[in-house]
Amino acid sequence: MNTLQVELGDRRYPIYIGCGLLDQTELYIKHIKAKQVMVVTNEKVAALYLGTVLEQLKAYEVAQVILPDGEQHKSLDVLTQIFDTLLANKFGRSATVIALGGGVIGDMGGFAAACYQRGIPFIQIPTTLLAQVDSSVGGKTGVNHPLGKNMIGAFYQPQCVIADTDVLDSLDDRQLSAGLAEVIKYGLIRDAEFFGWLEDNMDALLARDKQALAFAIERSCINKAEVVAEDETESGVRATLNLGHTFGHAIETGLGYGEYLHGEAVAIGTCQAADLSRRKGWLNDSDVERIIVLFKRAKLPVYPPNALSPEQFIKFMSVDKKNVDGDIRLILLKAIGLATLPVGVDEKLLHTTLASYRS
Ligand code: NAD
Ligand code: GLY
Repeated sequence: MNTLQVELGDRRYPIYIGCGLLDQTELYIKHIKAKQVMVVTNEKVAALYLGTVLEQLKAYEVAQVILPDGEQHKSLDVLTQIFDTLLANKFGRSATVIALGGGVIGDMGGFAAACYQRGIPFIQIPTTLLAQVDSSVGGKTGVNHPLGKNMIGAFYQPQCVIADTDVLDSLDDRQLSAGLAEVIKYGLIRDAEFFGWLEDNMDALLARDKQALAFAIERSCINKAEVVAEDETESGVRATLNLGHTFGHAIETGLGYGEYLHGEAVAIGTCQAADLSRRKGWLNDSDVERIIVLFKRAKLPVYPPNALSPEQFIKFMSVDKKNVDGDIRLILLKAIGLATLPVGVDEKLLHTTLASYRS
């Protein structure tokens, strides 16, 4: 097992990464302060891993809530089920929430913990590659709104992250690829050496080589933890983690949550951001080609859905947390391994990119 730290002063916390962690009872005990524990998960993950987690919690008073599976259920409406269960069980301020699942469950469980009685402790047990490399680390929690992705939420850090790499064995190939989109992101925004490593090792990752996966997860978490430690609440460098996300969120919201996986939408959005960066004279043709080829090799889509016109893209992109006074601001690339902070873009250039960068 490897342990990384997210350095946030008195709220610093460990990320445990390794195989066979789900049944290491002491990892749970170390981070649970009182008797009441509530496990939040979904139907699919419950069938696979809830039993193992409950086995480790025999010494506690445990409640569980099993949510419906899918991005379309990451809503205020469904969130209420968590509060209902906490209240029905008379859980108090010392109770701990354990979020067992992918990014949807992590974001919702974390947000419920942030809100319930104005904040109770929570633990992240991420079970998708995407959640292990990104969403479980850094304390962004929340739900979607029909008009905008992740528009309702809070920054709220977990007590720890337990990333058991064995659980990725049951993840299907499409979900593995979706996670790779966020892995590639770290190479693009701040770690050119890692980007090169990904070019050399993409086939091993897709073949689920354990060593390659462990390295990619750890390197991603190191990158994420460093960014979060520098800028927890996104007043600066943390925004770079949003590379491709403004385009991607427009795809997710515009087509209806769940149509494209988050990672797939991010892959397309990152290629759009790379194309726009080239039009601004920052990337050259071969940089953009390298980026598109790597996403393709990761079995991710690279072109936007034809169902979304440039005008529709712009409409949905105008609802984004990086925007200022309604003006769209994007993370772009100066080079592979170097992202910009949010920059305003000329709407004509954005429109040209959206109209030209298509399959
Ligand atoms: P997800 O949570 O929907 O999980 C994907 C699918 O995999 C689901 O069907 C889930 O039930 C299933 N699954 C989970 N673990 C499994 C396992 N071990 N074996 C088999 N199936 C398993 O999606 P995701 O890609 O994990 O997360 C996407 C979400 O994360 C989005 O809502 C996105 O906005 C959010 N996100 C948040 C942050 C953040 O910083 N908080 C960062 C990136 C993404
Ligand atoms: N996934 C973006 C962030 O954590 O800031």
